Amino acid sequence: MFINAKGNQLETLNVVDALIENFPDMIHSVDEEGNIVYVNRTASALLGYTEQELGAMNIRQLYPPEILGAVEQGFREVKQSGAKTVESLFIAKDGTRIPVELRTIVIHDEQGGFARTFTVSRDMRQLKEMQEHLIHAGRLAAIGELAAGVVHDLNNPLTAIILSSTVISKTLEGSNVNAKDIREQLVAYCETVNESAAVMENLTTRLRDFSRGVKEQHVPVDLFVPVNDALFIMAHRIRNHNIKVVCPVVKGRHWIRGDRNQIQQIFLNLFSNACDAMANGPERGLSIKIEAETLDGVTYWNCAVSDTGEGVPPELQEKIFKSFFTTKPRGKGTGLGLSITRAILSEHNGQIRLASEPGNGSTFSLLFPQMEVARLD
Ligand SMILES: Nc1ncnc2c1ncn2[C@@H]1O[C@H](COP(=O)(O)OP(=O)(O)O)[C@@H](O)[C@H]1O
Ligand SMILES: [Mg+2]
Repeated sequence: MFINAKGNQLETLNVVDALIENFPDMIHSVDEEGNIVYVNRTASALLGYTEQELGAMNIRQLYPPEILGAVEQGFREVKQSGAKTVESLFIAKDGTRIPVELRTIVIHDEQGGFARTFTVSRDMRQLKEMQEHLIHAGRLAAIGELAAGVVHDLNNPLTAIILSSTVISKTLEGSNVNAKDIREQLVAYCETVNESAAVMENLTTRLRDFSRGVKEQHVPVDLFVPVNDALFIMAHRIRNHNIKVVCPVVKGRHWIRGDRNQIQQIFLNLFSNACDAMANGPERGLSIKIEAETLDGVTYWNCAVSDTGEGVPPELQEKIFKSFFTTKPRGKGTGLGLSITRAILSEHNGQIRLASEPGNGSTFSLLFPQMEVARLD
């Protein structure tokens, strides 16, 4: 029963009528053949037809032809089950496609037979648009993050290139360029330039592929290779900082499946951080060790990267993995190295752990699931 403000009883049917007519969602009803027998005001406003025009139409005329098969199927199902909710598409008079969520119930006649359907349809355009914006924004944010990381990582090979080419031109200015040892030196520097340029090309290609959404294939990777490539790329910084490197990792033993570039990027990030952490310390050592470790039934290669740097205080040990967290001065740190490292590891079903005591160095342990060597043969 409905009561008005003056306390008088109202005609229930009138109130329901008014409610249905002005309901914010489209409401329609069709008979057994699909002829429209009722539409509310919202439906006629959204679809751009007058109520009279809609009253002379079959519901099939409101669907795009390519989904009519699914509509027939849906119609059969709703007759059987009595109710159904689906996402679909209406075409307005001006051709606009309106994504809708349809909730349909069947109304039966007195004998229990099918009389008509009654459908409430919600316009999903705003929601869809919001979802698309979110996906796009997420992708943009990820590209931005990766771009910043790549720019950061371009600095290492770029430094190698600049240093090498400076040495090359200085040497060429000298008089005895033909001497054998000088020629060998020049060739070695040229190799550094080429290899560093190749790394830069890799990085920029990856960024481009990512912005296009290309995913790299995971291939067998011998951890020896990215570790040594990264040490090679960082060679100048390691030498300039007087860092003693201990790396007993041997070739051809520690196989994993992964993306070679990304794994190299992990080591570049960690070595670069280690160099920074040791910049002011008296003792400067970097060591890389790989051992097997089983965790929850999975066998990993645990690659431990240790430095003798300033260490990480306990309260920062979780924070340093967050994007944009840095303790370095503006222009030096982006705060992306470790967050990207952790993201790459989780893409490889791996993990990263940190053990560190302030003043006593840090060990970052990278756990990569082992690849069975038998599969290689
Ligand atoms: N080996 C390390 N020793 C001490 N602190 C470290 C080490 N690696 C990372 N950190 C800390 O973690 C922070 C975040 O590192 P990272 O994500 O690579 O960003 P960024 O190097 O640009 O600051 C660093 O600013 C530093 O405070
Ligand atoms: Mg870093």
